[in-house]
Amino acid sequence: MKPIISPSILSADFGNLARDIDMLNRSEADWLHIDIMDGVFVPNISFGFPVLKHVARLTRKPLDVHLMIVQPEKFIAEIKALGTEIMNVHYETCPHLHRVVEQIREAGMKPAVTINPATPVTLLKDIVREVDMVLVMGVNPGFGGQKFIENTVEKVRDLRELITRTGSKALIEVDGGVNLETGARLMKAGADALVVGNAVFSASIPEEMIHALKNL
Ligand code: DX5
Ligand code: ZN
Repeated sequence: MKPIISPSILSADFGNLARDIDMLNRSEADWLHIDIMDGVFVPNISFGFPVLKHVARLTRKPLDVHLMIVQPEKFIAEIKALGTEIMNVHYETCPHLHRVVEQIREAGMKPAVTINPATPVTLLKDIVREVDMVLVMGVNPGFGGQKFIENTVEKVRDLRELITRTGSKALIEVDGGVNLETGARLMKAGADALVVGNAVFSASIPEEMIHALKNL
């Protein structure tokens, strides 16, 4: 199976966002990954709805929205209004995760749960059948271009086993530190989708990097 590739616009040139989104439209990218940060759950702030409504207008790719914010359930309607397909919320920000997952589905989006590097896969046992995707962080969230945490490969293997054992249909996505080398190992370990920021946007020809990642 070819990986689903979800380029992260966090690494795009914000001074030329329309140009970069146009490049992604012409590329083999499957989804567009959008990182929303609040400066509370993570030590950085990215962009908010006034910017994202233009991103949503310009892209032709389904939106894979990753909320690195506390109380993400407050923004379900706004995320839906962007035309979002997949809404990712962090396990660590949702004490009532089951309810949030239901609310996302009721709003007409696919719910996904994201886990930080220190959050074990085993904690997902009772929610993994309710979500369409699990996003495994390969770095501590907050910044693009960080070094990949090696333990992520083992987590993907464990998660694949949990998904098989429970009969879940969830896809496995990995976000942070993904490049051709780590991407190949993650696919072998059982990943379905790869978020790629820095490796795409720092490539001399980003479309060719996306093509190479599609053909890992
Ligand atoms: C990190 C973000 C990632 C980030 C990935 O907080 O969630 O989506 O953009 O960037 P790279 O691929 O550069 O590690
Ligand atoms: Zn992300």
